[in-house]
Amino acid sequence: MQRRGFLKAVGAFVQGVTAILLAVPAVRFLLSPLSGARKRSTEMIRVAPLDVLVEEQPFRAVVKTDRRDAYIHYPPGPVGSVWLLRSGETDAEPKVRCLQVICPHLGCGIDFAGDRDAFYCPCHASEFGINGQRRFGPSPRDMDELSCRVTEPDADGRRWVEVAYLEFQTGSAQKRSLA
Ligand code: FES
Repeated sequence: MQRRGFLKAVGAFVQGVTAILLAVPAVRFLLSPLSGARKRSTEMIRVAPLDVLVEEQPFRAVVKTDRRDAYIHYPPGPVGSVWLLRSGETDAEPKVRCLQVICPHLGCGIDFAGDRDAFYCPCHASEFGINGQRRFGPSPRDMDELSCRVTEPDADGRRWVEVAYLEFQTGSAQKRSLA
């Protein structure tokens, strides 16, 4: 009887260890699309050559990248747009800022009005200054700024603007990433 009990206990132990060993990779596989999506939000995406940007004239660039929606992988295509602003160079180094096109109020696309040097939202008339600061209207915060950088010259001597594309929650004074 003692021997039978011992063998039962060993069998149960081996079964338990096997179940854990199988469960770990299965859970990691199921969660992998979620962690992948988070990583992609910090990926730098090339959006425009530097030489198309004119100082103090905002340039709207389309952001194209591949997407993953749960377990479906989509090939590269447009995922959003950003406003690029080139301003005074420091030490000959170009300075570029990047603003999210999506309005922080309810998510309409923000346009630029060159005649009054302002960004505006056509949906509910929010207006923002040239640097994205809120002037008036129902938008609860300034335009959302994204991290961007200018690359070193490539093989053709061209420099590019790259953006860490993110979208943010609308309707709140707090800037909270949706990634
Ligand atoms: Fe832009 Fe309402 S969505 S002001």
